[in-house]
Amino acid sequence: DQPLRLGLAGLGTVGTSVIRLLRDHEEALTDRAGRPLRLVAVSARNPNKDRGISLDGLSWHSDPVALASSPDIDCFIELIGGENGVCREATRAALDAGKSVVTANKALLAKHGLELAAAAETGGGVLAFEAAVGGGIPIVKALREALAGNRITRLFGILNGTCNYILTRMEAEGLSFEQCLADAQELGYAEVDPSFDIDGLDAAHKLAILTSLAFGVELNKDAIFVEGIASITAEDIAAAEELGYRIKLLAVAQETDSGIEQRVHPTMLPKNSQLARISDVTNAVAVEGDFIGQVVLSGPGAGGDATASAVVGDIVDCARGFRAPPFGRPVASLKPYQRAQMRAH
Ligand code: HSE
Repeated sequence: DQPLRLGLAGLGTVGTSVIRLLRDHEEALTDRAGRPLRLVAVSARNPNKDRGISLDGLSWHSDPVALASSPDIDCFIELIGGENGVCREATRAALDAGKSVVTANKALLAKHGLELAAAAETGGGVLAFEAAVGGGIPIVKALREALAGNRITRLFGILNGTCNYILTRMEAEGLSFEQCLADAQELGYAEVDPSFDIDGLDAAHKLAILTSLAFGVELNKDAIFVEGIASITAEDIAAAEELGYRIKLLAVAQETDSGIEQRVHPTMLPKNSQLARISDVTNAVAVEGDFIGQVVLSGPGAGGDATASAVVGDIVDCARGFRAPPFGRPVASLKPYQRAQMRAH
C-alpha cells in the first residue's frame, strides 16, 4: 500500500513526542491505518539543537511554507504554534495544494478556522485538529462525530492545563504562583508565551472551537468574555477553601434565548463537584445534549505525549481517508454567530 508521507513543522515538546510515537508504534499504526505512516521531512528553526531524537534520513526545510507545499508530502503536521503568520501561510499552502493538515494550533484555528476549513473544502484535503483542544481528550471527535445526533445546549469545562496545574498546586502545596508557573513551563504544559495561559486566552481559543462544533455556528473568539487567573492570590484560594469551594478557570458556552453566551473566568466550584476534583494538568469538558443528557470527558490536557496521542489519531484518520467537515458542517451552512445578552455571573 502507498505510504502516507508526512511533513512535520515544529520540533518542540509536541513535535518530538509525535516522532517518538510514530517510531515506537510503527507496526501497529501501519495495521490500523491500513498503510505505512512515513515521516519524510521536518522543519524547525534550529537544525543543530539536541532534541533527544534522531532526525537522520529526514529532509530538512528551514521554511515551513516550502515544506507544506512540497510535492514529497501528502500530509502536513503543523506543531509550530502561535498565531504567527507563517503558520497560517504554511497551513493554507498545504490545503491549497490539496494536502491534508493535522494541527494542534488553537490560536490559529480560533482566528482563521473558517478560512482554513473553506480551503480544505476547496482543495479536497482534510483539516484535522483534535490536539488543539483538551490535549489528549477526544472532545473534537466526540462533538463532531459521536454526539452529532444531539442538539447541544451547553458545554463547560477546564480547558487550560497550565492554569489548572497552577491552581491545584497553589492550593495543595501552598506554593507561589510564580513557582507553579515555572514548573508548568518546565513540564512542557505552558504556551511559548505563558500569558496566553494565565490570561485565559488559550482557554478562550479552545472554547471558540468547541462552540462552533457544538452549536453549528461560525467561530467568534472576540465574543468571549475572558478573565484569567493572574490576580488570584493564595489568600483567595484559602478563603474559597474555607467556604468549601475550589477556584477553577472555567470555560462555558451555552445557547440562550438571545444567542450564544461564551465566557472564561475563575469560578468557585463546590469542592465535591466533579470539575472541582479535576487536578493538575487534567482537563475536563461536560457536554449537555437533548438525547444524551450529560457527558463528561476528562484526561491530560497538555504535555507532549498526551497531545501527540491526539495528533497521531488524526494522522491515522488521514491515512484511512476519513473526512469530516472540520467544524461539523460545511462552512456555508455554519450559522452566523449571534451573541447573547450577557448576564452578570
Ligand atoms: N498551554 C496549553 C495548556 C497547552 O496549558 O492547556 C495545551 O493546549
